Amino acid sequence: MKLGLIGNPIKHSLSPWIHSRLLELAGIEGQYQLYEMQPGSFQQQIELLRNEQLDGFNVTVPFKQKIMPELDDIDGQAKKLGAVNTVKNHDGRWLGYNTDGKGFVNSLRAKYGTLLHPDTKVLLLGAGGAAKGIFFTLLNEGVRQIDVANRTTERAEAIVNASEAAVSSHSLTLKEAEGRIAEYHLIIQTTTVGMNPRSDESIISLKNMKEGAVVSDIVYQPLETAFLKDAISNGGRIHQGHEMLLYQAVYAFKIWTGKSIDETKLLMELEAQLKGE
Ligand code: ATR
Repeated sequence: MKLGLIGNPIKHSLSPWIHSRLLELAGIEGQYQLYEMQPGSFQQQIELLRNEQLDGFNVTVPFKQKIMPELDDIDGQAKKLGAVNTVKNHDGRWLGYNTDGKGFVNSLRAKYGTLLHPDTKVLLLGAGGAAKGIFFTLLNEGVRQIDVANRTTERAEAIVNASEAAVSSHSLTLKEAEGRIAEYHLIIQTTTVGMNPRSDESIISLKNMKEGAVVSDIVYQPLETAFLKDAISNGGRIHQGHEMLLYQAVYAFKIWTGKSIDETKLLMELEAQLKGE
């Protein structure tokens, strides 16, 4: 089986490691290769990629939108998000999917099975592609109030207003979110704030958060961000970025192969890998 990743930069991607392990665990012979493409010659490079006859590939920054006109069909969720991160080659036809939101929700459910229900109050920090994916997946799961706070408030407004949840969800400034932090059962950090090398930064303070609330950070380098440390010291429970990373990869692998792999053991291996053990 031939799999791969297109994006730029991708040299430090963890996907080759994850998918090689998934192939091994599924007992499938195959490889996962990196295709670093230049935005200026994307079209020509896509034609070359077609000749490679990959069975499937992942798409990352900055091509998640650019790939869409090259596809023969796009699944409903990816269409809604306007972004594709997984492509399956089905008898020569390229089909597009987005596994980010589902990866997030699956990993959250695996750890906190009863957390998500219609009355769960959620705060989403950030309004980029990752936030959008998580927002619409949570809505699909039946959550009704998902407030979105962002440095640029207009982007938060755009997400909230694009949905039927606009009645019960609000767009907020980061300051307003900090002031209302005690209301939320689930707080999700989707920006790059706190990522190495700026690991001492946190997007907002969690000082007044509800005890026992779940705090999630999609940043996985470092494994425990300053934001998550703040959560722990204020009585929060945490959900880490590498959990989403692994679950979205396992979901992509299922789209390509039809095989479900148990994430639990691989999650520990990934943790060790990220700690450099
Ligand atoms: P992606 O699609 O990967 O999520 P993106 O669209 O660039 O990436 O979104 C990045 C998010 O991080 C945005 O919500 C951005 O806020 P703005 O919309 O105001 O730009 C947020 N972000 C990045 N750096 C930030 C910082 N220093 N402080 C607060 N928010 C930041």
